[in-house]
This record gives sequence, C-alpha cells and structure tokens, in this order.
Amino acid sequence: MSGMENSGNPANSGNILRDYFDSLLVETRYVGSYPAGTEFELFGRTFQTPVMTAALSHLDERVYPGARMDLARAAKANGAVFWMGVSSDDEVEEAVEAGCDVIEIIKPYADRDKFFRKLEHAKRCGVMAAGVDIDLVYKRDFTSTVDGEPLKEISGEELIDFVLEAGKLPFIVKGILSVRDAEFARQARAAGMVISHHGGVVDYAVPPLRIMEQLRQLTRQPMFLDCGIRDGLDVYKSMALGATAVSVGTTLIQALKEGKEAGAAKQIELMTKQLQRMMTVTGVKDVKNFDATVIHRRDW
Ligand SMILES: Cc1cc2nc3c(=O)[nH]c(=O)nc-3n(C[C@H](O)[C@H](O)[C@H](O)COP(=O)(O)O)c2cc1C
Repeated sequence: MSGMENSGNPANSGNILRDYFDSLLVETRYVGSYPAGTEFELFGRTFQTPVMTAALSHLDERVYPGARMDLARAAKANGAVFWMGVSSDDEVEEAVEAGCDVIEIIKPYADRDKFFRKLEHAKRCGVMAAGVDIDLVYKRDFTSTVDGEPLKEISGEELIDFVLEAGKLPFIVKGILSVRDAEFARQARAAGMVISHHGGVVDYAVPPLRIMEQLRQLTRQPMFLDCGIRDGLDVYKSMALGATAVSVGTTLIQALKEGKEAGAAKQIELMTKQLQRMMTVTGVKDVKNFDATVIHRRDW
C-alpha cells in the first residue's frame, strides 16, 4: 500500500513504517536452497531465533497480572532474548532466575545516582546486557517523567560514562533514529543500538528500517530494530537490509491478550517459522548470510 492509499492518518509513524515495509518486495532463489537455520549468536550466547521481545514495562498492570513473566517464559521456551523496560530490581532478578537471557533497558532518570544503582544491579544479577532508551525523555505533552520520576536528556559525554560504568556488561543505546545519534553511540563504544522510534512517539518519523539501511553502510556493529514488526516477513526484510535481530512489542502484547503464555510462545514460533521459510525460498542459509539484493523496491 502506498502512502496515498493508506487510509490512516498520514502523520502517524506506525502507518508510515507499515507503508515502507509493504513497499519492499522479495525475489525468490530456489535452486540449490535448503531449509535455513535461524540460530543466532549475541554477546557469546546462542539463541534459536532472532525474533526477540521488545523492552516492555507495566505489562502486569496494562495487559493482565502475570503477563510480564508469561512473556519471559514464552521467550525462554523459544530460545529468544527477553528484553525488559522499566522494571524493579526484583522483577529483573525473577526473570534471570527463571533462566531468561535478559537485556534490561534503564530509563535516563534525572537522578543519575538511581540510574547508576540500577546499572550496578544489572551487572550483579546476571543480565546479558543493559542499556538506556534515549528517545522518550520528552513525552507528547512535553512532560518528562516515568512513574512520576523525572527523566533527563543524555549528553554525548554521559553516554561515554554509561558505557564505561557498564564495564564488561554490553551496553546498548535504544532509540536511535539518525546517523547523528548513532555516531554518539559509536563514539561511546556502545555494544549495540536499537533503531527505533519507540512506537511512534513523534509524528512523521522516518521508518527505523530506512535509517538502519543508512547506518548499515557505515558500521558492522550489532543493530536491533523495533517498531511495527508484525510477522516473519517484516523480520526477514529487516534482517535482509542489515538488522542483527528484531524486537517485537505490540504484536506479542496482542498474542498475550489472546492466549497468555502459550499465545505469546506460539507467536514467536510462528514468526520464526515464517522467517525460516522466507530465508529458505530466497537462498539464505543462515542469519549470517542475508543478502540485500533479494529486496526490490516497488516503483510502480
Ligand atoms: C506497554 C509498553 C511498554 C513499554 N515500555 C518500554 C520501556 O520501559 N522502555 C523502553 O525502552 N521501551 C518501552 N516500550 C517501547 C518498546 O520497547 C518498543 O520500542 C515499541 O513498542 C515499538 O515496538 P512495537 O511496534 O513492536 O510495539 C514500551 C512499549 C509498550 C507498548
């Protein structure tokens, strides 16, 4: 569907990225191709799928009591990375103790001591990586709090401090939507970036995939992509164009609502299967061998 055909609000960044995904077409490469592998390595660990959960918070309040750990178990059952958004120390420990491979995204609290305390806790409790989301300091109403706690924007120097403080723990910058911000993350020697607009917190946002394609020309660093991933074909297109792996939020929340833990587990499994089939019919044998020349851009 082109932008003109999309009946939704043209300013809506979710509609814009949907149009972008839908404008990307795939050629097939059957001869000599055989069932592809979806195993994926990150920070020294091996996963069964590059379909990860998004960094989510308040699931028990917003979805249903118990939704947070249901999603954690669904990720674990599929050999998938479990990202966490705003979380108490106890909640992070609960996921780690349940055997999940956790990436914890910490808010840039104005109280930087609190930020560093949480980073210290992440290091101690055995998460596989931690990070900060830089892109929701200013909400739509231009307020700047989470759960009543003030947030504060981050300078380039502070990003360097965060990464240094994380030490051996890989540190990720979430919420990159420009080459400029990616350059700050690179200079800070972040272990990875999430290319994202946080589910459309600004209107008319460039699709994260479009920015990621630009960035992929500049760096081989791990780049994760989220926003609007609906199925395994979106995962495929993202990875063909350079994503290391993708995160899924809204689609998994819907699956939780419909089928709780089993629903979320089935959704990750389905998306992985769709990805695997698409890899197979386009001659991509594993996640290290995506080829961007498979993608065509609709120009009619
Ligand atoms: C209920 C909910 C809670 C979220 N909480 C956080 C959070 O605490 N930290 C964060 O970095 N992103 C948070 N996000 C943003 C997601 O990580 C992700 O960037 C966004 O939802 C876009 O992906 P999606 O279109 O697949 O939902 C949250 C999103 C939702 C829907």
